[in-house]
Amino acid sequence: MTRLVELDGTGPRKLDPSDVDDEKGDVAICQCGLSDSFPFCDGSHRRTEDEAEAETYVYRDGERAVVDRVVTAEEADGE
Ligand code: FES
Repeated sequence: MTRLVELDGTGPRKLDPSDVDDEKGDVAICQCGLSDSFPFCDGSHRRTEDEAEAETYVYRDGERAVVDRVVTAEEADGE
């Protein structure tokens, strides 16, 4: 399974005490790339639970699509 994730951050986000979950006492960092509260986990990773190992996925505007192959701009231009 591969998931293509687009991020636009250009630097780190520093955590502070207000980022700690009051109930659980921890900070959950998103590792799936789908969180609307990135870099924090908001439970969106549940949408990935049925992904097939051999597929590549893109999530855009709330929809999931299977990608046949990834082409870089240089490949698309024939370079
Ligand atoms: S790991 Fe990404 S939303 Fe939970």
